[in-house]
Amino acid sequence: MLNNEDLGSLLRRCDEIEESFCVEIDAVSTLEELVELERRFLGKGGEISSVSRQIAGLESDDKRTFGQRIGSLRQRIEDGVSQSKIELEAEETSKREEQEAVDLTQYLVFIDTPKLGSLHLVTQAKQELEDIFVGMGYQVAEGPEVETEWHNFEALNIPKFHPARDGQDSFFIDHPDGDYGSLLLRTHTSPMQVRLMQSGELPIYAVIPGKVFRRDTPDARHTPNFHQIEGLVVDKGITMGHLSGTVGAFTKAYFGSNIEARLRPAYFPFTEPSAEFEITCTVCLGEGCRTCSSTGWIELGGCGMVHPNVFSAVGIDPETYTGFAFGFGIDRLVQMKYAISDMRVFLDNDVRFLSQFKGVQ
Ligand code: DAH
Repeated sequence: MLNNEDLGSLLRRCDEIEESFCVEIDAVSTLEELVELERRFLGKGGEISSVSRQIAGLESDDKRTFGQRIGSLRQRIEDGVSQSKIELEAEETSKREEQEAVDLTQYLVFIDTPKLGSLHLVTQAKQELEDIFVGMGYQVAEGPEVETEWHNFEALNIPKFHPARDGQDSFFIDHPDGDYGSLLLRTHTSPMQVRLMQSGELPIYAVIPGKVFRRDTPDARHTPNFHQIEGLVVDKGITMGHLSGTVGAFTKAYFGSNIEARLRPAYFPFTEPSAEFEITCTVCLGEGCRTCSSTGWIELGGCGMVHPNVFSAVGIDPETYTGFAFGFGIDRLVQMKYAISDMRVFLDNDVRFLSQFKGVQ
């Protein structure tokens, strides 16, 4: 028979089991460890069952006391195990979810606020120029970016070895020469003058915008691929006065009424007489500054009366018809309108630059 002291020591044993359970359950970090802990405390031959066996030697009153203590200890351990199980399962689920997660928020961005693109600044300018000339009764034409040497040079009165070819260093295409010579990326939009006149429909009032290519090293004012717009008028009785009036009208329509245009004598092989057209400096409005070298004027493009040799090349009688032509860089025009210091930003595709000009027109 066990005495009261034995009950006391059994109850202390129960307290020790509870204490060590409390310490160990806190240290458990996986479900496997928990199963192992549960087996050690609650399983067959575990702590509870071995201490419970001692009940047999107690007197009946002590049996009740000890039985209740064993019951509460078992409950305490079972509660601890199931609470810990819930926590560990939740932890493992969230770990797994984290590993398997697919980030859908990137799609949400598009659902919430669709990011609208916009036309490139140069395209906007091209369209604005087209509108201005369509308003003056012109047609808009397009032509090939890969040209023949004949259309790009010979027919425009620029024979081989003519010094004017030096200024338009070309990208030639590796292709056998055809009837019209080698192929090259057009160095200007002027070959479209030739193509329009060759088509035989007169009169002509047309503008031709498009890409042009030159073997230029990129710098603040040059890129190897830029844009020009060409104008061509062929009709009876066309004079230099019409040319001058047209350039002035377009300048005011594009830049505003405070900007003037003027013509200065120049040389181009395909026009005679030829001129450069200049506009009031957009930076200093004619006062004189560094951009315009203190002249108050900035050169924009070339123009002149269609050369009789060009008319002959395309079979138009220069005694009956006269005409004028002009051409200028769209990129340069945009650069001046918005005072953009370096032209290379047009090709960088940096949305921080481009998005400033969303629908500026
Ligand atoms: N094609 C010339 C160039 O790229 C510009 C030009 C000058 C065009 C005179 C013309 C013109 O139509 O008449 O430098």
